[in-house]
Amino acid sequence: LQCDAQSAFDSADDAESFEAARVAFTGAKKGRLKDVQKQMGAVPNEEKKTAGLKLNEVKSAIQTALETAQSRLGGGDDSGVDPTFDPTLPGNRPIIGHIHPITQTINHLMEIMGRMGFEAAEGPEVEDPWHNFVALNIPEDHPARDPLDNFYLATAAAAKADRNVEGEQLLRSQTSTVQIRIMEERQPPIRIISLGRVYRPDQPDATHFPMFHQMEGLLVDKNVTMANLKTVLRVFATNYLGDDVEIRFRPSFFPFTEPSVEVDFLWDGTWIEFGGAGMIDPNVFKAVGYDPDEVSGFAFGLGVERLCMRRHGITDIRDLYSGDLRFLRQF
Ligand code: PHE
Repeated sequence: LQCDAQSAFDSADDAESFEAARVAFTGAKKGRLKDVQKQMGAVPNEEKKTAGLKLNEVKSAIQTALETAQSRLGGGDDSGVDPTFDPTLPGNRPIIGHIHPITQTINHLMEIMGRMGFEAAEGPEVEDPWHNFVALNIPEDHPARDPLDNFYLATAAAAKADRNVEGEQLLRSQTSTVQIRIMEERQPPIRIISLGRVYRPDQPDATHFPMFHQMEGLLVDKNVTMANLKTVLRVFATNYLGDDVEIRFRPSFFPFTEPSVEVDFLWDGTWIEFGGAGMIDPNVFKAVGYDPDEVSGFAFGLGVERLCMRRHGITDIRDLYSGDLRFLRQF
């Protein structure tokens, strides 16, 4: 049997003759190996052991012959394999995403400000009026608190449009909220930036979007001056936008800074506003429990989209949030 099987497998020269030999010798029903196995029952007890050993020997010899033939014929059953398939060809590259330009900008800004010693801090996007207004010296009747200019959350209490109710919440309209949160938690000296989303119900156009990002900066120490503020902003601007960038401070008003300025950069011959800044108002220090006679500080808030747009020559803020890959892939 062993010799027959050996020669049958050795002489198999295509899939068909190989398959015929396989069925003839190792077939589960009519295979000759099976026949021999069936006869084992008739072997007298004292010879069973030797017969069993012999059978196993033959079995494994046949198996080896079968495998040798299989690999010689190219892997045995290749019926399901496409003969044109070439496993050595490089594969298809999977399409993977990449980092959104605004996230790239945020990382870049954190790096530049980090080099000047500003540590990144975060605050919640859903805020209470204390952090978004009250502690920032924005009084009850101030237009900045108007429901038409803010996204108040429709909690049961706030729905009444009684904006003084306990538990009232809104989507923060500025990252200045984080100034308050940090000063409530820490003691000076403080040197932080906070980059994140803010929300205002603006009609979207080329320069407005109801959600955008701000970079807030806060420095509190002894004897901080407006000159320090201007230097930090100038160093930042030249690092991010290039050495030839021109920066301008325009007198302005914010309830939480005194004096206050608006920060403009020259863009294609035009002064464009990038945000606000100023020296921390004593009322803000009082709200967080600092002594305004002991410490001074400055704060600034710049629009991240505008910075990104100026650096990359983007002309429509809506492109950043369109999800259009043809646009996003350029970054
Ligand atoms: N929070 C102001 C705004 O959103 C910007 C600002 C920040 C102004 C810090 C002064 C100081 O317009």
